[in-house]
Amino acid sequence: MATLRFPTFISIFTFNLVQLGLASARRILELITAETELDENVQGVAQPIRGEVVFDDVTFSYNGQPVLKEISFTARPGETIAIVGQTGSGKSTLTRLINRIFDADGGRVLVDGVDVRDWSMESLRSQISTIEQDPFLFSKTLSENIAFGRSDASPGQIREAARAAQADDFIMGFQGGYATRSANVARPSPGGNGSASPLRERS
Ligand SMILES: Nc1ncnc2c1ncn2[C@@H]1O[C@H](COP(=O)(O)OP(=O)(O)O)[C@@H](O)[C@H]1O
Ligand SMILES: [Mg+2]
Repeated sequence: MATLRFPTFISIFTFNLVQLGLASARRILELITAETELDENVQGVAQPIRGEVVFDDVTFSYNGQPVLKEISFTARPGETIAIVGQTGSGKSTLTRLINRIFDADGGRVLVDGVDVRDWSMESLRSQISTIEQDPFLFSKTLSENIAFGRSDASPGQIREAARAAQADDFIMGFQGGYATRSANVARPSPGGNGSASPLRERS
């Protein structure tokens, strides 16, 4: 009898695991196949973006909680503009309306004169990047971190990108320059002013 107990126990245990696996797989499949509320607008405008961004009387709330109210401004192509405000004032939210992570509740967001809802989502998103506030550095060289996602980038292109982000001087300040490993880069202390790292968004 005892010889049967162990195999029986193992069988039941395994069966439970399979059940668990099935339940998880079902849940994952649900997420993958879930339709988003945003229309991808496959037929929409698909063209190279020049870079004009217009907010025209934009209002936005998260679940009835107002965040942006009647915001209007124009950013011309190539122009750098700063949106300044305290934490929680809606700066990140504002950027999310440009590539349609969310849609405005009122007013319009235009890219090159076209309402973002009339752009093909694919065309819009493939041409707009957001750099998040909290830098995440891989434990590789600075050069490899800059080239992340573009492993074919030449040293010249990497340096050009760093110059555009005003990081070149800072990087060249290290003995190893672009070959410095990110672990050796001083991080600003949380909350404090820290070192003047250009790798940190000035908030
Ligand atoms: N996904 C979300 N769902 C609900 N509320 C959010 C979400 N994201 C941000 N918020 C809220 O919206 C407000 C603006 O946030 P955010 O745009 O991140 O501000 P900032 O970038 O200026 O710090 C905050 O009160 C924040 O808690
Ligand atoms: Mg933010």
